[in-house]
This record gives sequence, structure tokens and C-alpha cells, in this order.
Amino acid sequence: MDGTGIADTAPVFILLGPPGAGKGTQARMLEDAFGLVQLSTGDLLRAAVAAGTQAGQEAKTVMAAGGLVGDAIVLAILKDRLAEADCAKGVVLDGFPRTIAQAEALDDMLARKGQKINAAIALEVDDVQMVTRISGRFTCAGCGEGYHDTFKPLQVANTCDNCGGTQMTRRADDNAETVMSRLAAYHEQTAPLEQYYQVRGALYRVDAMGDITQINTSIATLVGQVNA
Ligand code: AP5
Repeated sequence: MDGTGIADTAPVFILLGPPGAGKGTQARMLEDAFGLVQLSTGDLLRAAVAAGTQAGQEAKTVMAAGGLVGDAIVLAILKDRLAEADCAKGVVLDGFPRTIAQAEALDDMLARKGQKINAAIALEVDDVQMVTRISGRFTCAGCGEGYHDTFKPLQVANTCDNCGGTQMTRRADDNAETVMSRLAAYHEQTAPLEQYYQVRGALYRVDAMGDITQINTSIATLVGQVNA
């Protein structure tokens, strides 16, 4: 795997955490605050499923069951996205890597240009909170802004705060059964990444049990320091 569009000195941040930890919510806020590009492999895979590509067809069943899509498919999709021009300003990876093999592939891809990640930020939430967050989640179909029935409601009924869109969607994999499979996949295959980044001196932990703004302040402070 080689070649990214990331400029030589541009930052690469990773948000780690279980489903519902707030990776997408916080990644979008970092995108706005630091001029980074949010790259969610979940979003890229859902787009491939919607487009009916070969990769999307293969990913669809796995995602519906709450498992992890194969590394080869995920890496191919991410590599294509990283080669796009807007990634030059730096990226915040949301939901990637999820396996040691993906982390090694990312390190390898960056090393080819003499780059490495700036920080892997682990959002720490307990399993009960994660299920609560996922069960109330919905998203604006127009701009992708994420909301929650209780924790981040719309300011005006049926109208996106961000773009004014009126169509909201709920994810097919946000059901009780699939959520438990996603959580199991996280503990088995993704949680070991904390140790992977810790031994490389790149792991930062953030308590993600508080409110969205408070957590954002902690992450933004960290990103500002690492980026300085
Ligand atoms: P993906 O789309 O990445 O889903 P996920 O990891 O399960 O994470 P979520 O999007 O569910 O949660 P989040 O942490 O982003 O939380 P959010 O900010 O939305 O992946 C889906 C599937 O794709 C996977 O299961 C897998 O099959 C496949 N896949 C993706 N990447 C892959 C990879 N690299 N390798 C293999 N397979 C891959 O917040 C959740 C809710 O809580 C929202 O409603 C939000 O408003 C609310 N909220 C956020 N923060 C707070 C807070 N502090 N307090 C209260 N509410 C909050």
C-alpha cells in the first residue's frame, strides 16, 4: 500500500473507541476546528454499499451482522480516499484502523513518505453508555450531521441545525442484536490497538463519558498540543 495525498507536514490523527463512543461526533468537530478532513471507514463502506460496488456487496452482509469487513476491502477503499486532493491538509481517521493489520498497513503507507501518525486518541466509554448512545442516534441525510434523541436533539423539529435539511435517517446496524456483535468485535479485534499505539508512544486516552462539548475541549487541547 503506498501513496497518500497527505502533505508532508500535515497531521494524521486517529480516533479509537467502541461503537457509540463519539468518534464521528468528535471527528466532525475537529474537522471544523483544525481544518482536517474526517475520514470514516464506516461512511466510506456505507457509500460503497449504497453504490452497489463489488466491495459494497461484500461488505453489506458483514456490516449487517456487526462483524468487521475484511482488511483488503477496507484498505483499498481508504487508500483511494487518501489519494484525493483534499486530504493534503491532514486527516482525522474515524473508525480506522480496527485491526493490527490495518494499523501496520497505515504505518507502512505513511512511512513511505517519511510520515507517521501524530496521535491515536482513545475515547473511553463504558458499554452501557455506548448502547444508550447508539439507540438514540439519527443523522441528517443531507449533510451527515449526527444527532441523538436525548443528548443532541434538533433545535427545531425535523430540521437539521447544520444544513436545514429535513430528512433524517437511522442506521440499519443500530439495533440491539447487531450492537452486541459490534461491541464484541471491538473488544476482540480493535481494543488491542491501544497497546499497539502505547508502545509506540502515540496513545492518548480521553474520558468520553462527559458531555459532547466538554470532551471536545479535552480533545482539541490535546490535538493543539500534539500539533504545536
Ligand atoms: P462505523 O460507522 O465506524 O461505526 P462504529 O465504530 O460502530 O461507530 P459508530 O459510528 O456507531 O459510533 P461513533 O463512535 O462514531 O459515535 P457517534 O459520534 O455517532 O462502522 C460501522 C461498520 O462498518 C462496522 O461495524 C464494520 O462492519 C464496518 N467497518 C467500519 N470501519 C471498519 C474498519 N476499519 N475495518 C473493518 N470494518 C469496518 O455517537 C453516537 C451517538 O451518541 C450519536 O447520536 C451522538 O449524538 C451521541 N453522542 C456522541 N457523543 C456523546 C456524548 N459525549 N454524550 C452523549 N451523547 C453523545
